[in-house]
Parts: sequence; structure tokens; C-alpha cells
Amino acid sequence: MLSPEPLTGLKNIAPYIGGESQITGIERIIKLGSNEGAFGPSKKVMEALKNNAQEFSRYPDGDCNELRELLANKNQLSKDNIICGAGSDELISLICRSYAGPEDEILYSAHGFAMYPIYGRTVRATVISAPETNITVDVDQLLERVTDKTKLLFIANPNNPTGTYIPRSEIQRLIDLLPKNVLLVLDAAYCEFVDRKDYTNGAEFVSANENVVMLRTFSKIYGMAGLRLGWMYAPNDVVDIINRMRSPFNVSYSAIVAGIAATKDDDFIKFSQEHNKKWLEWTTNNIRALNLEVPDSFCNFVLVRFPEDKGRDRTAEAANNFLKSKGIIVRRMAGYGLPDAIRISIGTGEEMEITVNILAEFIGL
Ligand SMILES: Cc1ncc(COP(=O)(O)O)c(C=O)c1O
Repeated sequence: MLSPEPLTGLKNIAPYIGGESQITGIERIIKLGSNEGAFGPSKKVMEALKNNAQEFSRYPDGDCNELRELLANKNQLSKDNIICGAGSDELISLICRSYAGPEDEILYSAHGFAMYPIYGRTVRATVISAPETNITVDVDQLLERVTDKTKLLFIANPNNPTGTYIPRSEIQRLIDLLPKNVLLVLDAAYCEFVDRKDYTNGAEFVSANENVVMLRTFSKIYGMAGLRLGWMYAPNDVVDIINRMRSPFNVSYSAIVAGIAATKDDDFIKFSQEHNKKWLEWTTNNIRALNLEVPDSFCNFVLVRFPEDKGRDRTAEAANNFLKSKGIIVRRMAGYGLPDAIRISIGTGEEMEITVNILAEFIGL
């Protein structure tokens, strides 16, 4: 029997597994599985959505002019070099589709964001991962794996799910040694949470190089994951190509309205940053006090590792199941090459206290 056949290799793509959102039989669920921000969108965003709902029968401005203007002013960037997308996810996909194909290689770091290899495989490129050192991106390991087939190099800085980052000097070194025909994608999805002098979200490198782009998202600190909005800052040639490749109305009217309100609401971001700083530190210290390993995180989540000496019944999987039985959704990390770990997003103070108490119960302290 004849049947339609998808392109070779597509059946080997393991679909992305998102965070769970429901647990049968449990009413109050604490969702700490997807780094979605502790508070939901800001009140100003919700107001703007309500006030503009009547307009949602109209097609949006396909070029997101007002939003791009605001983003440019706020970040002191050129508007012409900004493109918005339906989440930074869409932009990752567009970059893969535009710059890599079946004969090419896409490089990323071993515990990097899952969508890099997934989108890499959708364009049937060969996806290569470079080992990390202390679960941190290792520039030398990446450079060692660059070949004449390498077209793209993805780095999330700081990285999900490890929470670690590499400093400006390491990015500079990478750019200096990377062939100019390799496009370096610096994914700064969590940059608003980082408070370190040696950190850069990468925008400065986009301005200075033809082969560097920066990705940003409204899904994390802005608490707007469900609206799907992200953006990219890129050199002229890359902007030109992505504009040809994207759908004409790739960002919804509602996402644009929300993005405009969110970009103007600096107070919400400041509030979220302060909250995250306090509860990231509190959560890290209190989980470490349970004799579990928690690497320093610069994001709105912690990676929690369960050493083997804790015994067979104190594994990451068992911890995940125990938390789930109590209504707490976190994320297992086996798919990220970290089978001994779970990732816990920073939620409200109360949510973190409940979660750490239940983790203590699990450990038996
Ligand atoms: C590093 C990183 N990049 C990109 C994304 C995708 O974000 P968006 O919701 O904008 O597609 C995520 C989401 O988890 C992420 O962790």
C-alpha cells in the first residue's frame, strides 16, 4: 500500500516533552516545571489585553513596528535589527531552516536547551553536542568540534537547565576563534535574572560582528509564556533572510499588545528580579541544607542533583514522583543528559517553602 512518507530522518526526532500541567485527583497544584515566572503577567499587560480585545478580529501589524521601536529604545539597539517571533522558539526554528540543511552540522553544548537539537533535526542537519565542564558551557570543547560543515552554534547564556553562564570574556574568545561563516546564536532567555558584572546578554557582540545573533523571550521574567512572544537582535543580512522566511503575521495581535504593555512596565521587572534574587538564594541554601547538590544558578530555577550515595530510593525520579504525589510539578532532566537531576522553577515564596518542606520529607530529614 502506498502512503505519504515524511522526509528521511524526521521520524527519528524525539518530540519535545513540555512540563506537566495537571495531576489527576489533586486540586491545588504548584507548577514549577517550566520556568514561567512566579506571578503571571503584570497587571498592566492584563489590562492592555482587555482594553484591546475588540481589535483581535484584525490582522496584526506584521512588522511589529511599535513593539520593535519600544524594544530598540529600551535596549539602545537599532529597530531595523530586531525581529519578533512567536516565542524565541519560532526564531530558533527559523534560524535552523535558514542556515542549515542535510549536509550541515549544528553545534550546541551538552546540556543546552532541548529545542536546539530538535529544530536542528527538523532541517535534517547533523546535530553535534560538546561536553561541558562543571555543567557549564566549555568554549574549547565547542571550538574543537567546529568543522567546515558547521553552520550554527547555539549557546543559552545563562543556560537552561543548568542555570550556569559564561562571562563576556569567554564569549569574546569564542567569537575570535570561530570561523566567520558560523552563525553564533546567543540565547539570552534568562538574561533579566542575571546580576553579574562580567555577564552580557550578547547584544554588544551582535553590533560588532556579522555572525552573531541574540535571542530574547517574554516567556520567563515577563510571565507571558502562553502568549508566545520572543525577539531577536541580528545583523542586517540575517534580518533580511529571516524576514523572507517567516510568516507575514507570525506574532499575534494579542502578543503584540501584551508585549508593548510589558516593555513599558519596568516596575514589574524590578519587582520580579528582587523576588527571584531572594527566593533563588533561599531555595538554593535550603535545598543544599538537605545535603543535595545545587549548582549556583543565575536563572529563575535551580537544578537539584541526587547523588548516588543517597541510595536507590532517593533518586531524582523518586523525588519527582514524591513531589508530584503532593501536587508539585517539577521537571525531570533525563532528556537533558542529567538523569540524576530535577529542575525546580522559582515560584512564590509560599510555593518555595512548601516545595522545600516536601523535599525535606522525601529525603527523610
Ligand atoms: C534557553 C531557552 N531558550 C528559549 C526558550 C523558548 O522560549 P519561548 O517561550 O520564547 O519560545 C526557552 C524556554 O524554556 C529556554 O529555556
